[in-house]
Amino acid sequence: MGRAVVVGSINVDLVFTSDVRPKAGETVLGTTFSTIPGGKGANQAVAASKLGAESFMIGCVGDDSNGEFSINNLNSMKVDTSFIEKIKGIPTGVANIIVAEQDNSIIVIPGANYEITIETIDKYKDIILSADIVLLQLEIPMKVVEYTAKLCRNNNVRVLLNPAPALELPQSLIEDASYITPNEHELNIILGKQDDLDETLKKYPNKVIVTMGSKGVKYFDGSELKIVPSFKVEVVDTTGAGDTFCGGLAAALVRGDSLSEAIMFANKAAALSITKLGAQSGMPTLEEIMKNEELKINN
Ligand code: RIB
Repeated sequence: MGRAVVVGSINVDLVFTSDVRPKAGETVLGTTFSTIPGGKGANQAVAASKLGAESFMIGCVGDDSNGEFSINNLNSMKVDTSFIEKIKGIPTGVANIIVAEQDNSIIVIPGANYEITIETIDKYKDIILSADIVLLQLEIPMKVVEYTAKLCRNNNVRVLLNPAPALELPQSLIEDASYITPNEHELNIILGKQDDLDETLKKYPNKVIVTMGSKGVKYFDGSELKIVPSFKVEVVDTTGAGDTFCGGLAAALVRGDSLSEAIMFANKAAALSITKLGAQSGMPTLEEIMKNEELKINN
C-alpha cells in the first residue's frame, strides 16, 4: 500500500443548505444545518485513505470539542492521527459553508491551523520523508508549505500541491511541487492573470493539472494537451470535490498508476463525491468507484 502524508488544515464545517443564496443585506430561510468534519487537509487525507492509500495527517487542532470530534473522525476513516498536535487556548478551525443553487460559498476561520510551524515539520520529518507522496494546500501558513515542499524535493519525495484558497505562488514553490491542481479561477491567482490556458499548461508539462468542473481536467503531457472528461452526475453538494480529486490522484499515483490513469480515477471519485452532502461524508470508497463502471462521460 502506498503512503500519502498530508500536511494541512483540519476544520469543522458548519453547513447550511438553502434553495437561494442570500444577497448582501438579505435574510433567507434555509433548509438544513449539519456539522460535518472538513478542512482541505483532513478531507484529502480521508479521500486518500478511502481510495486505497495508507494515509497520515500532520496538522493542528485546538484543545476543544471540535478538535476531539475531528481527530475521532479521522481515526474512524483510518487516517493516522499520531502527528496531529492539540494547541491549548486556540480553537479548532471552522468553516461556514452555504450550499445553494448547486454551488457553495465558504468562509474559513483557521484557528489552530495557523499554529503549525517549521519546527513541527522538523519534528515530523521522518514520517514526511517516508511518504510516497506529500499533499499540501494553502490553509496553513505559506512559509510552512514552502518549507515542506523544499524538504520533500531535496529528498526526492513527490509533492501534490492543491493551491486553495488561492494565493500567488512563489516561483520556488512552483518548482518544488511535482503536481499543482488549481481550478480555472485559482490558476489566474496562483500564476497571475493568464491569457491562454493551453499556452500556460505547455509551460508546466505533467505538473499543472487544471480542474474545470463539468468541462473535465486539462494538462499537458509533454507532447500534447490532454482533456480528461468529467462524468454526468446529479449535483447535491460540490464541497470537497477538489479535495476528493487530490486524495484520489494521490492514492492512484502511489499505487503506481500513470498520471493519465490517476487523473481518470480521481475524476471519477470527485464526480461521485458531489452526489452527496458534505466534503468527507460525500467521498466514495474504492469499492464504490469500482461498482460505478457505468458512469456516463460529459460531452
Ligand atoms: O474544500 C472544502 C473545504 O474547504 C471544507 O471542508 C472547508 O473546511 C474548507 O476548508
